[in-house]
Amino acid sequence: MTDIQALLLSRIRDVPDHPEPGVMFKDITPLLADPAAFGALTEALAELTVRHGATKIVGLEARGFILGAPVAVRAGVGFVPVRKAGKLPGATLRQAYDLEYGSAEIEVHAEDLSAGDRVMVVDDVLATGGTAEASLRLIRRAGAEVVGVSVLMELGFLGGRARLAPALAGAPLEAL
Ligand code: PRP
Repeated sequence: MTDIQALLLSRIRDVPDHPEPGVMFKDITPLLADPAAFGALTEALAELTVRHGATKIVGLEARGFILGAPVAVRAGVGFVPVRKAGKLPGATLRQAYDLEYGSAEIEVHAEDLSAGDRVMVVDDVLATGGTAEASLRLIRRAGAEVVGVSVLMELGFLGGRARLAPALAGAPLEAL
């Protein structure tokens, strides 16, 4: 483990039984409140953005907004929010995906992504991979190219990497 990984890990709080019994919630608010840790995370994600030649960051609501926006500014690329359905005011593309029980939908403004855009998706956690997988479909439906998915942490026991692999189509999934 690198020094930066140790710093980031030390600032993630495990909260048992949140939001429901049996779930261990990974709380990133201590990391956000520590400028050294938040700065190191932003720097690492910006370095990946530049390395992959991304022209846009797509952040996934809500914590992907907090992480993705400063990364976009740092890397000098645009930021595009992917929101839960019903929040964006303009013309959108909408994508449904399956949850453990039921389904959910996310949206992006159609005009924010187009052919020629090279997109890196940023989020805090990859769990089942359903949200990230749906975001990759949205990005491609908008005509843009996916150059990677970057997350702070991956909950490996939930199998998100395997679920996401077909949609990644060879693009890297990197968990800091
Ligand atoms: C969490 C997390 C990811 C997603 C990961 O967001 O921030 O976006 O779930 O889960 P998955 O890999 O199983 O799809 P959440 O839906 O809790 O939204 P929030 O950040 O708005 O609370």
